Amino acid sequence: MGRSIIVPVVRFFRLEGVETRILSGMLAQLDTTEEQALATLGSAGTAAEIEAWRIDWLGSKGQLKQLMGRMKEVDASERPAFGQRMNAMKKSLEAAFKAKNNAAATPIAGPPMDVTEPGIAAGLGRRHVISHTVAEIIDVFARMGFEPTTGPEVEDEWHNFTALNVPESHPAREAIDNYYLEGGGILRSQTSTVQIRVLEDTPPPVRIVAAGRVYRPDTHDATHYSMFHQVEGLWVDRGVTMVDLKSTLLGFAHAFFGDDAEIRMRPSFFPFTEPSAEIDMKMRIKDEWQWVEVGGCGLVDPNVLEALKIDPNEWSGFAFGLGVERIAMRKHGIADIRWLYDNDARFLRQF
Ligand code: DAH
Repeated sequence: MGRSIIVPVVRFFRLEGVETRILSGMLAQLDTTEEQALATLGSAGTAAEIEAWRIDWLGSKGQLKQLMGRMKEVDASERPAFGQRMNAMKKSLEAAFKAKNNAAATPIAGPPMDVTEPGIAAGLGRRHVISHTVAEIIDVFARMGFEPTTGPEVEDEWHNFTALNVPESHPAREAIDNYYLEGGGILRSQTSTVQIRVLEDTPPPVRIVAAGRVYRPDTHDATHYSMFHQVEGLWVDRGVTMVDLKSTLLGFAHAFFGDDAEIRMRPSFFPFTEPSAEIDMKMRIKDEWQWVEVGGCGLVDPNVLEALKIDPNEWSGFAFGLGVERIAMRKHGIADIRWLYDNDARFLRQF
């Protein structure tokens, strides 16, 4: 790069003399020189090219130095102007070099990074309060000898109604109260379907507990939702009676709500049990004991056993169904069932 950059061009003829003409020409030429220098730097791609440029222009024997050496050719009175221009050019080239060097040394564009700053910890997930409650309930019954099982959510009318002794004309079958599917089938409205599935597959004795979702087309409000969870229990054996049912439910209440918990059974009606009862459990809610209706139960109706070719003279059983949301909501003081399914992490994180 030893080419001569300064080619004095006399642009302004002034009569004062030759020195002045040289200065005018050189000053004008310095602009071009600076532009060329910056352009060369701009096209330098590699670190080696940038360094070669530095030596050529800013080095101790570089072009800037050589230009400075020509100061003596300038008339003494014009030297300050020339000096100022040279200083400005030096600064401009140095700044350009610095910027280029920094850019080349910073391969990743973006804001500066403080590697000492503490990181953002990944949030830990947690089980939904309903999953947690289901697991706890199942665990208690499992310890009492009930085998956990499940059944399908898409069912047929046989398992959801007919085999459960629900007559064709029963209002529980009405279209407005169920999710009937196009082409047949139904989203199960109760986990009692699992009683039928188990008894179809397994000859008694059976003792199972099954949790899962059920579906009913309710309008959503604080206590209704179109999907909720039930836990179903079934024990069929020789000589199972109401005493077994009541002691099982009481054992559950003690394990789940504490030794002071109580249960109460109110006579009721379900097509698949005879006799039938509604179950209340007394639980402590904010230091106050309250009765809460938690589900239904009864002795398996002989019609159900007969439909499954099980002899009701040899076998008897009990069944129960518990509402999981009810239990979880009362236990944790949750006032509105919709909060469980809004998926607002601020709410769900509390449990
Ligand atoms: N399936 C009933 C319901 O959804 C609850 C129920 C009542 C379940 C009595 C049972 C039972 O197993 O014996 O309302």
